[in-house]
Amino acid sequence: MKTKPKKKENIIYKKAKAIKNKMSDIQFAWNTLNIKRKESDIELWYHGKISEEELLHSIIKVNLVEIKSYGRQTFHNPANLLVHGDNLIVLRGLLADPSISGKIRQIYIDPPFSTQQEFRSGNGRTSTISASADDYLAYEDRLKGPEYLEYLRQRLIILRELLSDDGSIYLHIDMKVGHYVKIIMDEVFGPSNFRNDITRIKCNPKNFSRKGYGNIKDMILFYSKSKYFVWNEPRQEMTEEDVLRLFPKIDKNDRRYTTNPLHAPGETKNGSTGQVWNGLFPPPGRHWRIPPKELSKLDKLGLIEWSKNGNPRKKIFAEEILSKGKKMQDVLEFKDPPYPNYPTEKNLELIKHLLSASSNVGDIVLDCFCGSGTTLIAAEELNRRWIGIDSSKVAIDKSIKRLNEMSKVSLFNLYRPKE
Ligand SMILES: C[S@@+](CC[C@H](N)C(=O)[O-])C[C@H]1O[C@@H](n2cnc3c(N)ncnc32)[C@H](O)[C@@H]1O
Repeated sequence: MKTKPKKKENIIYKKAKAIKNKMSDIQFAWNTLNIKRKESDIELWYHGKISEEELLHSIIKVNLVEIKSYGRQTFHNPANLLVHGDNLIVLRGLLADPSISGKIRQIYIDPPFSTQQEFRSGNGRTSTISASADDYLAYEDRLKGPEYLEYLRQRLIILRELLSDDGSIYLHIDMKVGHYVKIIMDEVFGPSNFRNDITRIKCNPKNFSRKGYGNIKDMILFYSKSKYFVWNEPRQEMTEEDVLRLFPKIDKNDRRYTTNPLHAPGETKNGSTGQVWNGLFPPPGRHWRIPPKELSKLDKLGLIEWSKNGNPRKKIFAEEILSKGKKMQDVLEFKDPPYPNYPTEKNLELIKHLLSASSNVGDIVLDCFCGSGTTLIAAEELNRRWIGIDSSKVAIDKSIKRLNEMSKVSLFNLYRPKE
C-alpha cells in the first residue's frame, strides 16, 4: 500500500530535486534505476541525460538523397556511402536499414575533443596548430561538460546498435575528456567488453613553457560488442636487440634460446597434471602445464633443460618466435602528419593497423566523424566496405578529393539526409 509522503519530507525531496537539476557539474552516482545493469556498475550522472529507451524509441525513418556517384563499380560489392549531415540523424536513419543495422563489423571514431576551438582549413596543406586567418572554417568544437558528454553518449548508443555482435569500436580521445568518456563507454558497452586503453604517441616531444610534463600522447578506447569479436592478432617484428635480450642462451648447435617454467599456478587435485613425473611433484600450489606423458616426450626430444638442482624448464628457441613476431602492446607510435589535408587529420597507418586487427576483407567499417576521410581511405586500401559521415562541407570535399586521388577507388555515393 502506498503511503502519502509527509509534508516535511515532500519539501526536502523537492529541494533536493531542485538542487540536482541546477547542477551542471558531472557527478558520479550508483545506478540502481536501470534494470539492465548491475548495482555495482558505475554511472556518470549529469543534467540533461536521457534514457536509452527514450533515445531508441524515438528512432525516425530518415531518407538519404543521393547527390552524386564517384569511383568504379566492383562486381561483388554495393556502393560505399559518404553522407554529408549531422551524424545523429544519419545514424538513426541507418538503424532503420536492415542491410546495415547490426552488420557493421568495426567502428573507428575521432570526434571533437571539447577543445573550445574552431578548426580552419585552406586550399593547400594545413597545419592543425597554426591555421591562417584566411583559411575557412572546417568545424567548431564548442560543446563542453555535460552537453558534450551527452552528445557523444547518444551517438555511442546508436553505434552500439549498428554494430554486429562480433564487432568492435575504437574511440580516439584526449587526456582532458578521455576519462569521463571511458565511464560513458563502460555504461554503453559494458565494463566487461572493455578491451584496451591504447596510448597513441602522437607527436615529437614538445618544449612548451606550460608548467607540467609535455603531452605527446592521446588515447584510443577499444571495446567489443560481446566477448566473441573479430580479432586478427597483430604481431610486431622482433629487433636484434629483442632477440639478444629475450633469448640469452646458446645451445651446442649455435641456436639462441630461453627457458620457461613447466608448471603454472593452481593445484590440480585429481588430474594427471598434479601427479608425479620423473620422481618430481609440481611445487606446492602449482600444477604441470602439460600431462606427465607429454613432459616425457618433450624430454626425449631434448626440449627440456635440467638445472644443477634438478629443476626442469622448457626450452624456447628464438627461431620459433621470430617467424611469428612478438605480441603488440597497448602503446602505439603513429605520429600525425605534420602538414595534414585537414585539421586534426589522423595517421593513415594507425587506422590501417586498427582495421587490420578487428575486421576482415569485405566487412563494413564506419566512421561517423570522418573528417578528411582517413578511415575511408584505410578501409578502401584494405578492401573493406565503408560508411563515412561528416557535417562539415569542407570535410566532405576533402574526403572526396583524397578518395578520388587514389589510383583505384570503388564506387561510392554521396548522400544528404532529406530535410
Ligand atoms: C577530429 S575531426 C576528424 C578527423 C579525421 N579523423 C581525419 O583523419 O581527418 C572531427 C570531425 O567530426 C565532425 N563532426 C563534429 N560533429 C559532428 C556531427 N554532429 N555530425 C557529423 N560530423 C561531425 C567535424 O566536422 C570534424 O570533421
